Amino acid sequence: MEESKAFSLEDVRITDDRSTFSNYKEVKTNKIHFDWFVNFETSQLEGKVTLKMTAITDIQTVILDSWQLNIINIPGATFKLGEEKDIGSKLEVILDSKVTSGSNFDLEIEYTTLPNSSALSWLQPDQTLDKEHPFLFSQSQSIYARCVFPCQDTPSIKTTYTGKTKVKSPLTVLLSADVVSEETTEDGFKITEFDMPMPIPSYLVSICAGNLSFRKIGERCGVYAEESYVDTCAEEFEDMEKFLKVGEEILFEYPLKNYFVVILPPSFPYGGMENPVTTFATPTIVVGDKSAVNVVCHEITHSWTGNYLTNSNWEDFWLNEGFTRYIEAKMVHRLYGENAHKLHLKKGLSSLQGVLQNKTGKGAGCVLVPELNEHQNPDDVLGSTQYEKGYYFLYYLELLLTEEKFLEFIRNYLKTREGGNISTREFVAELIDFIKSNYDEAKSQEILSMIDLKEWLYSGELPPVIHDSDFEEWKQMEVIFDQFKDGKDPANLDIFKENVGLLIAFTQKIMLNEEHFDSNILAKIDEALHISENKNCEVLVGWYYAALKLDYSVIHDQIYKFLGEVGRMKFVLPLFKALTEVNKEKAESIYDDNKSFYHAICKGRIQKILA
Ligand code: BES
Ligand code: ZN
Repeated sequence: MEESKAFSLEDVRITDDRSTFSNYKEVKTNKIHFDWFVNFETSQLEGKVTLKMTAITDIQTVILDSWQLNIINIPGATFKLGEEKDIGSKLEVILDSKVTSGSNFDLEIEYTTLPNSSALSWLQPDQTLDKEHPFLFSQSQSIYARCVFPCQDTPSIKTTYTGKTKVKSPLTVLLSADVVSEETTEDGFKITEFDMPMPIPSYLVSICAGNLSFRKIGERCGVYAEESYVDTCAEEFEDMEKFLKVGEEILFEYPLKNYFVVILPPSFPYGGMENPVTTFATPTIVVGDKSAVNVVCHEITHSWTGNYLTNSNWEDFWLNEGFTRYIEAKMVHRLYGENAHKLHLKKGLSSLQGVLQNKTGKGAGCVLVPELNEHQNPDDVLGSTQYEKGYYFLYYLELLLTEEKFLEFIRNYLKTREGGNISTREFVAELIDFIKSNYDEAKSQEILSMIDLKEWLYSGELPPVIHDSDFEEWKQMEVIFDQFKDGKDPANLDIFKENVGLLIAFTQKIMLNEEHFDSNILAKIDEALHISENKNCEVLVGWYYAALKLDYSVIHDQIYKFLGEVGRMKFVLPLFKALTEVNKEKAESIYDDNKSFYHAICKGRIQKILA
């Protein structure tokens, strides 16, 4: 027999949350109430938060995370705010009297946020589509909830919450919760009450406010956007209810009542963010041909993997994103067929190659379970790796166990915890248990010996096993790619028609192999495929990257314009990376021109690229 690579559980490093100041192992939050006035005059949230807490040990001090907050008053306690570090400021709350282990108490904190918040984007009317009303949106993952309210900002603390918001009419406020009541006061304010009945981590508390319109889609779904855009969005996402049903078929009943998507202004730095009930999304997924709706499948999937069952620590981020990618791919498979699924695997691999070649403006390496330093911001190490290597890992396990068995494992794994949290070590323990209880001794050993866990979890290389996912159009695409590269005129370009995914893969491949091309070849490709006119930003990003690096200058103005209109980091960062390498001065001036447009987190990353 081949030498066994069988691992023991002890090989799996115990992960921990090194990015919180809070003493969450001594005291925990069970429920939160928010009371906020959304003040567009001052660009501040004003009000209070009530944390309903239980002491786990005898305590007199509650340590909370806070960042860019103005703490006004905490009845029944005094407080001290520590100096600002990379993960914010420690807020020490010293209670007037001791609390004994097991007892409950409320901490009511009166505070405001600051106008220049890393988590809250306060947009002027001219930064919206309709240019009439201001707009606000939050982005808290991974550690920016502490910029919205003082809290135990660790994903391992999960709570239900209620909220009451007030805003100038006619604006609408949406939290990541169900709306339970709404009224407009005589003096022209809208008061809304919210309820989130499922325990969620702090990073999933979200707020957005603006002049939003709503269109219902199916039984439980719908989309919010500015009035002039909402019908376009509703059309793009008309299959949403179907996505939700397919998710339920693969896993189990959707854990909440409704599922809505809010299309935000273009400075939103991500594709989507799985805020419960109200996923936030960038307008770049509204392409016109539904070619980016997989982002919605992805965010819906987080309802189970991430929101219902949550990574314990940011080092375990792959348990959120890898699982979500894996289930998203299953949805894509069932909705759009086998080749769409294979394409998913292929794109995942390209994206990992991009990380390894450091083309994405983020040199975080390829480790599935990275180790964070004490007080390090997790954003430094989280990226495509946890998504794509995680997905490859789970797909590998599926091939070892069969899809049916592996999905049975996943359903159990999600359900036995009834929500809650999961760490990498707990995942591995459950996997071993499942294998041992489903197969005889010899077969279990055989399966376990096929899983090179150390390599999967801790190596910085590409996945140890890369599944062959070739298919006919893919092979044709590769032939076309080589022909262009060698200066020939390929035929058969029809394969790209109606298959935007393949075109995305094609431009990704150009980006990864840009040294084999030059501006003449790019011009030829453009003439044949009209890539510069494509509406899907995923197609454009690889293409623009190459155009900058290879001085395909006829489209440079178009690229500079794009950089002033799209703030999604997945597109902005690689382009700044490329531009910085070829023309640093231009990169700096583009950044200067657009820095009031970009999101705070995006700005931080661009600055790192420019440095
Ligand atoms: N939860 C992520 C976005 C995120 C990750 C925000 C890390 C902050 C820190 C979201 O679910 C996501 O993965 N979005 C992707 C969608 C894609 C994988 C289909 C995106 O933004 O592109
Ligand atoms: Zn995700």
